[in-house]
Amino acid sequence: MPYTHYHPVYLHLTGRAITLVGGGFVAIEKLNSLIPTGARITVVSPEISPEVQAWVSEGTITWIPRAFEPRDIDGAFMVIAATNNPEVNAWVYKLGNAAQKLTNSVDDPVNCNFIMAAIAKSGPMQVAISSAGCSPALAQRVRNRIVSEILTENVGALAEFLGDRRPEVKATLPSYKIRQRFWEQVIDSKVPHVLASQGEEAADAEFRSMLRRAAVIAAEPQSVDPQKVYIVGAGPGDPGLITVRAAEILRRADVVLYDRLVNPILLGYAPPGAECIYAGKDRGTPGRGRQQSIHDQLIAHAQRGKVVVRLKGGDPFVFGRGGEEILALAQAGIAFEVVPGISSAVAAAEAAFIPVTHRGISTAFAVFAGQEADDKAGDGIPWAAAAAIPTAVFLMGVERLPLIVERLLEYGRDPSTPVAIVSNGTLPNQTVVTGTLEDIVSLATECVPPAAIIIGEVVRVREKALALAVQVVASAA
Ligand SMILES: C[S@@+](CC[C@H](N)C(=O)[O-])C[C@H]1O[C@@H](n2cnc3c(N)ncnc32)[C@H](O)[C@@H]1O
Repeated sequence: MPYTHYHPVYLHLTGRAITLVGGGFVAIEKLNSLIPTGARITVVSPEISPEVQAWVSEGTITWIPRAFEPRDIDGAFMVIAATNNPEVNAWVYKLGNAAQKLTNSVDDPVNCNFIMAAIAKSGPMQVAISSAGCSPALAQRVRNRIVSEILTENVGALAEFLGDRRPEVKATLPSYKIRQRFWEQVIDSKVPHVLASQGEEAADAEFRSMLRRAAVIAAEPQSVDPQKVYIVGAGPGDPGLITVRAAEILRRADVVLYDRLVNPILLGYAPPGAECIYAGKDRGTPGRGRQQSIHDQLIAHAQRGKVVVRLKGGDPFVFGRGGEEILALAQAGIAFEVVPGISSAVAAAEAAFIPVTHRGISTAFAVFAGQEADDKAGDGIPWAAAAAIPTAVFLMGVERLPLIVERLLEYGRDPSTPVAIVSNGTLPNQTVVTGTLEDIVSLATECVPPAAIIIGEVVRVREKALALAVQVVASAA
């Protein structure tokens, strides 16, 4: 559907004259958003509702108690037609538009030279949302999400806090680029949290120490301030399962080093100019060399003053070598932050309706590195524990399934123990194969990595849930 390309602006209406034609509930809605701007509002209408009357009585707005006449728009900066008569509204628009006034006829985009957006507001922060008339309901939905997830009360308070300090920062840090980076650092620092939890004084102390440090660095022309490296979990596969914090950090990235199992859609969160570097560990390069090269890249980019995100599948500390990376960064004197992610160790099972713990069935679960499985003794896997724990989850194990099964049986696990193999868990191409330790090897010939192998009675919960769901559907049909 063709739609109008509106250009959003924020109008400074304080002291400006607005003529609002109509005095019913539509007018009330407009007055609610216009009165806080401090505009001089005149309502023209033979009758007005009690709410409008209250504003008139307290002197907030002026009322002309008669039908609209063309002279009512003289001197007005903005004209709003909010009667319940479309013909009157169209006439008001015609006059206002011809007189080059900002004119809006409520709920009638054809008779408007500007439209009013849905507003999300917290203190001085305001977001105006419009669907250009295509779907006000969708615009409202987007607005509600912004209000509940982004423009929370704390954001408004933070905006005021930062606004109060702008002149000082401008005077202290000479270059625009340095100031821009400083503000990014403040927003990303403890300051917002301290402001929300301990108040302005404590936040100010934190802010001041950052400003002093930035001033020292700015005084050394050749130096760059090494940035933090963020070790970030990307979740198990479904891009919707990334955390809010991870998405927020990605939006500020200069460099993203990402792994093979990271959903490429998530790279879209990074700014258009960000450098996205594939750091997946495909076969061919020796493991230690690859990992060392990743450490070197993280350090080098951070030392060049870049915001570096190391994006890893699942959780960075679950078979993700995130621990090695923070040690290397610490050794190099680079600051870091770890952002946990949802691990496939639980998410793949969950996506297949398998709870890794379940009252009365499993009070413990453990996750094992399947690729370590070896027929030699001392492969590093605590097989006795794996055979005894109520739920054993093996990652990276699909190619070694026969060996894993053999070892578990050897260590005394009951051959009738249920097993599920969830490949591409949480993704549209997810597949699930279930069996028991006795027959899973022959059933799983088509299973592909990435896959999680779940061993334990909890697998029966899936079967039960699916059977009950079928019954529910059948009884509803
Ligand atoms: C190197 S490990 C990394 C694990 C990751 N750090 C985590 O917390 O999910 C990679 C293994 O995770 C498992 N995995 C990752 N994504 C998966 C998915 N979507 N479904 C099933 N298993 C997955 C597979 O066993 C894969 O071989």
